[in-house]
Amino acid sequence: MGSSSLFQNSGYAYVIGVLIFSVLVSSSSSSKLQQKVNVCSKRNPVIFSFGDSNTDTGGLVAGLGFDVNLPNGRSFFRSSTGRLSDGRLIIDFLCESLNTDYLSPYLDSMKGSDFLNGANFAVVGSSTLPKSVPFALNIQIMQFQHFKNHSFQLATAKGLRRVIDEEGFKNALYYIDIGQNDLADTFRKNVSYARVVKKIPEMLAEIKDAVKTIYDEGGKNFWIHNTGPLGCLPQMLTSVREKLKVLDRHGCIRAYNDAAKVFNDGLRALCAELRTELKGATIVYVDIYNLKYDLIVNSNKYGFKSPLMACCGHGGSPYNYNASYICGHPKCGVCEEGAKFISWDGIHYTEAANTIVASNILSTTYSTPNVKFDYFCNA
Ligand SMILES: *[C@@H]1O[C@H](CO)[C@@H](O)[C@H](O)[C@H]1NC(C)=O
Ligand SMILES: *[C@@H]1O[C@H](CO)[C@@H](O)[C@H](O)[C@H]1NC(C)=O
Ligand SMILES: *[C@@H]1O[C@H](CO)[C@@H](O)[C@H](O)[C@H]1NC(C)=O
Repeated sequence: MGSSSLFQNSGYAYVIGVLIFSVLVSSSSSSKLQQKVNVCSKRNPVIFSFGDSNTDTGGLVAGLGFDVNLPNGRSFFRSSTGRLSDGRLIIDFLCESLNTDYLSPYLDSMKGSDFLNGANFAVVGSSTLPKSVPFALNIQIMQFQHFKNHSFQLATAKGLRRVIDEEGFKNALYYIDIGQNDLADTFRKNVSYARVVKKIPEMLAEIKDAVKTIYDEGGKNFWIHNTGPLGCLPQMLTSVREKLKVLDRHGCIRAYNDAAKVFNDGLRALCAELRTELKGATIVYVDIYNLKYDLIVNSNKYGFKSPLMACCGHGGSPYNYNASYICGHPKCGVCEEGAKFISWDGIHYTEAANTIVASNILSTTYSTPNVKFDYFCNA
């Protein structure tokens, strides 16, 4: 099976901080790290993230050997990093806001990362269900447990390497953004809206298990994203069955967005339940749905045109998406650099859109409770 068909059929769906450099530091030999302003006053930030392509910083490429080609990466990294975007993802901007390095993919053995600021377990195409297949959420959690065990072994083996210690794991932030592929994959199976919605509690149970497992391991700081407006993605708009293709007034598929909202209502309730149940834990729920939907509805205000059309794709208006020629395929076109699009490849957002999403996340307006992103390294 070629990689492009795997992407479409098996769930591998395509699916601000500013670095402030101190003027006081001389230009001589200081390392980049020393030049960064310390946003975290109590301890160095450690983040473990779990999820899908919205957060994958190179895990798919490292884990399965798939190519992610240019023009992915063209606007910021100037080469492909395995991220499905032209530039940085939300998680990258959030790391920048703490002046910490981007998270290294857990599976990438070639980057020489010391993983001292955490690890990224998110992989393109991941979902909560089916469980126990690479790289479902429960597999990512098991990988984390392995990472943690191995860190302790390395630390006790005569301190051969600097690794995250027990306190580090305890005070780390555990970031989860998953669910988009669960909904997309279920709709793809030609089941009714009612059947999709009926499966949502099982998906949420997986997220609950993940949080509880991390908590039982000593973790207490959680940052949980809900899922975005699935029905506004050009890929979904291109592939939806006639029967379900009822659009809202902004051109998004009503049933898909309704399912996302049911998922999100359940996730919000789950977070509330876990706050009561898990003593001493801080569980921040972030409303990515409304944040992204606002961007689409008010796209003109933000300077974006054609909010439902992909920059990198094939077929032209209205969606510029063709599953046979996905972004990175030699026959796939791409918009001019600097053209303002929300959708990069029909599924993922552009760096320009991610910049706005991340800055709105950092505003805490969309968070419950309204806790700042740096709470875990400053408390
Ligand atoms: C981690 O270590 C614990 C305790 O030694 C053990 O019970 C558990 O199976 C290990 N888990 C992994 C994934 O290595
Ligand atoms: C999807 O399901 C409907 C009714 O359940 C059926 O009529 C249709 O042929 C199915 N389409 C595909 C592509 O399987
Ligand atoms: C995808 O593009 C090819 C080549 O232009 C075209 O033949 C095909 O019909 C397109 N597929 C869809 C679903 O539009």
